[in-house]
Amino acid sequence: MFLDKGKNEFKNDVLLGLSDPIQKSIPSKYLYDDVGSELFERITLQPEYYPTRTEILLLDNYSNDLVKDISKEIILIELGSGSSKKTKFLFTEIIKKQNKLYYFPIDISFNFLNSVVSHLQNSVSNVIVKGIPDDYINGINHCNSILFENNFEIKNVCRFIVFLGSSIGNFEIADAIDFLNDVRLQIANDDYLLIGFDLEKDISLLENAYNDKEGVTAKFNLNLLNRINKELGGNFGIDNFSHRSFYNKDKKRIEMHILSNKKQHVFISSLNKQFCFEKDETIHTENSYKYGLKDIDHISEKAGFSIAKEFSDENNWYKLVLLKPK
Ligand code: TRP
Repeated sequence: MFLDKGKNEFKNDVLLGLSDPIQKSIPSKYLYDDVGSELFERITLQPEYYPTRTEILLLDNYSNDLVKDISKEIILIELGSGSSKKTKFLFTEIIKKQNKLYYFPIDISFNFLNSVVSHLQNSVSNVIVKGIPDDYINGINHCNSILFENNFEIKNVCRFIVFLGSSIGNFEIADAIDFLNDVRLQIANDDYLLIGFDLEKDISLLENAYNDKEGVTAKFNLNLLNRINKELGGNFGIDNFSHRSFYNKDKKRIEMHILSNKKQHVFISSLNKQFCFEKDETIHTENSYKYGLKDIDHISEKAGFSIAKEFSDENNWYKLVLLKPK
């Protein structure tokens, strides 16, 4: 029932996206099926992909500073938790303050989430893990219901929400503001939201990060075509398409596309429709906005948050920002 709903949504989004005569596109959330999530984990290990290791460095150095002033019992909620590897630095610091920690990882890759949750349950002590297979806002809502049903007094706990990996950069700026606003409406004044922002920097560093030499990012991007072939009965010839990502300076974003190597037609049987691709025509699959310091102030302010603490690395490549509702 639920899977059918998901499949229909995928079908509709692919139909809509591939029918656009100006620029074909597919929403980036479809990159993260179970294969996509595994590939994404490999991207984070590539030497060119600086965001993950920089964020890890910051969490390693500053997790204590992030949580030390919170006196209430912390409930940790992670949006788009993926492998949950980076969150372990926070576990360690929180566990020093309280005997046990409730951790709710929220992720849309169901199987991936399940395997991460069982791994965590067997490997970290004093952390009670409850995986929430949902999108971000529904997921927070679901956590709130669980807390309520288990008689947690919201006034006695601090919901500490983390949104890492510069995933905020994958939203349009206006959508990021709406999204943060929606998060704020789910939490209380004493709760926190921790966000990882990728900052503007030298273009070659940026472009290398999204074009790793091993070609993992290319695989990750092209996996979307495999997914359409598998789930919607498409006949994309994967070798007839290539991965393209580049920095769009005017829009301050990395754009990722799938490029058609030649003029060709693709048939998708569940849509009973053929799509025509010109040579070099692209499907736009993802944006990753790079933030300036003023942009961070701007979206926080617009979404009703103030900045409680912020930490960046010595190169100023990446920033962890702790927000508090105003
Ligand atoms: N949030 C990540 C980012 O913007 C997502 C990401 C990393 C990504 N590499 C990617 C998305 C490659 C698409 C393609 O950096």
